[in-house]
Amino acid sequence: MTVLAIAADHGGFGLKEEVKRALMAEGHEVVDLGTDSVQAVDYPIFGRALAEYIAGGKAEKGIAICGSGIGMSIAANRVKGIRCALVHSEEYARLAAAHNGANMISLGGRFTKAEDAVLYINIWLNTPFGEGRHRRRIEELDEV
Ligand code: RB5
Repeated sequence: MTVLAIAADHGGFGLKEEVKRALMAEGHEVVDLGTDSVQAVDYPIFGRALAEYIAGGKAEKGIAICGSGIGMSIAANRVKGIRCALVHSEEYARLAAAHNGANMISLGGRFTKAEDAVLYINIWLNTPFGEGRHRRRIEELDEV
């Protein structure tokens, strides 16, 4: 099972709690980096903290949740070595893993049902990276 870390702002707090419970029930270790309530907080703080946690090798993969998933993905992708994909369908979850080698995904807490989120996460975790041209392309990302 994968060691995962998860973080959300207030817009993603509810989905974070549901997703965390489901993933732990599946046997994953899940490190929760907050937030801890629906009180308003700023997504850049939580997105960056999670991205630095993953880039620093403290967990294998990260799940970031805000209201839309957009702010968290922008924040996470500013950290070198992070490839965070905004996922809102099964196909996006597969592509995030197979083509982009995403080490983080972001989800929209206001637009994604918990059962769908868990399905997307499992597809992402279980889809192998495509290698070949995809390896070259993600290496080019780190040159930026
Ligand atoms: C907070 O209201 C909302 O802006 C935030 O959760 C996120 O959707 C930003 O991208």
